[in-house]
Amino acid sequence: MSRFYLTTAIDYPNGVPHLGHAYERLGADTIARYRRLRGDDVQFLVGMDEHAQKVAQSAEAEGLPPQEFVDRMARVFQDTWDKLEIGYDVFYRTTDPRHQAGVRALIERIYARRPDDFYEGVYEGWYCVGCELFKREADLVDGTCPLHPTRILDWQTERNWFFRLSRYRDQLRRHHAEHPDFLQPDTRRNEVLALLESGLEDISVTRGRLGWGIPWPRPLSTGEPQTTWVWFDALPNYLTATGFPGEGDRIRWPAQLHVVGKDITRLHCIIWPAILAAAGLPLPERVWAHGFALFKGQKLSKSAGVAFTVDEAIGRHGPDAFRYILLREIPWDADGGFTWERFDERYTADLADAFGNLVSRVLAMLQRYRGGVIPEAPETPLDRAGEAAVQAYVAAMDALLLHRGAQAAWDLVSEANVYVDRRAPWGQAKAGDQAGLDETLGALARALARLAGLVSPFLPRSAAKLAAALGLEDPARSSAAWSTTTTPRVAGHRARQIPVLFPKSPEPT
Ligand code: MSP
Repeated sequence: MSRFYLTTAIDYPNGVPHLGHAYERLGADTIARYRRLRGDDVQFLVGMDEHAQKVAQSAEAEGLPPQEFVDRMARVFQDTWDKLEIGYDVFYRTTDPRHQAGVRALIERIYARRPDDFYEGVYEGWYCVGCELFKREADLVDGTCPLHPTRILDWQTERNWFFRLSRYRDQLRRHHAEHPDFLQPDTRRNEVLALLESGLEDISVTRGRLGWGIPWPRPLSTGEPQTTWVWFDALPNYLTATGFPGEGDRIRWPAQLHVVGKDITRLHCIIWPAILAAAGLPLPERVWAHGFALFKGQKLSKSAGVAFTVDEAIGRHGPDAFRYILLREIPWDADGGFTWERFDERYTADLADAFGNLVSRVLAMLQRYRGGVIPEAPETPLDRAGEAAVQAYVAAMDALLLHRGAQAAWDLVSEANVYVDRRAPWGQAKAGDQAGLDETLGALARALARLAGLVSPFLPRSAAKLAAALGLEDPARSSAAWSTTTTPRVAGHRARQIPVLFPKSPEPT
């Protein structure tokens, strides 16, 4: 059994989860579910990045102490992930004392191994609280941060601890060259390679004024205490969540996959590996930088104020539909968007008409013509289409192209619907062609058994219902789920009818 430790970025809880947060969690959860289906021992980490200035500001605006505010937000985030069936194993928070101790241990480890990797210096520059980053003049558009145009930039000058990032440039270039998969997709990899080519500046890793954060373990030579810069606190969450510096890290670390948005690749593919290299720890195996989810053509974020709530999206056609439609509509390797119109079209075409209808038809015919017992029957062209769909699905999902994985499963849905129409089992029944009817119904039942597995990472609830209807275990809980998907054996199973999976005029779920 292979271990598969995957993480998402940890969210700033300065507002309720938005579409972007949901999109990333859904994609990562779909990968986690796919890896479990393939039999991996998966550990899926999500969490919150709580020590951000903007979090402290939001707490202040609500008149709450920051800790109380983040405790409240943690419930909101977890509730949202539960509603979306995000099957995380650990919900991790940077205010967790184990994390705080782990970050301090990591910093001390660097001081011990590479004493001159940290040095004191003066930093002066524009600080964007939205990004929690210093910005160079060249990064600004009309004097504002292009990612957070509504925020006023702060000019900050202070004496801080610096991290000697520049030292790691060659090592990082080598690592990227030797491991072309380290950062994917290629568009993102090329951006990071270009940054490495243009050179690396050292970075300031502490703040003087901010009290909300992890105390940096060493004061400045002036005796002034420092607080850890939020990214030097956040990035190590992936490591401290495994128990670092305790035993656990040796079991789970390094991560097999970090899933992050395209706006934070520099942090994950330059700064984070440099920190790990300084500490003498292995680098994560892979980083996947997905694109941005746009709603009605706009980036969703609290500061942009675009109205969209996860509850509204779930309320429309239930959590499964939201999961599938979002991941099908927005390619996992690029930006993409949707509108409610498009959402409803996909619902009707792919879920109600194509998939839901196929399930209802086949289950009804099994009942009507065979009293619910799935007949033993020879292989048909539909089985070969099923094998081809599994192959295309695996290639897409292994390459983390989730939209293509969904497409491969729906290709089989279409093939099966065409097969029903071509074979016209009602005609076979009427003509008394029992062998032909067995062949048709057996092939269709096997296609449904395959589909229960293939769709399960996208539609976990519906897949469980479909599997149960075929006398199979929930693919999310069965160790045989993958072999059932590749080689379905359902002859002799008693199938039963179930309520329509995706009603045309949906009742609220
Ligand atoms: N706290 C940092 C991450 C620290 S990871 C050690 C952060 N937080 S965030 O709340 O701003 O974003 C969390 C994740 O959501 C990031 O990966 C970000 O790219 C992603 N998204 C935020 N808005 C997005 C969209 N509109 N679309 C898709 N994902 C985007 O960055």
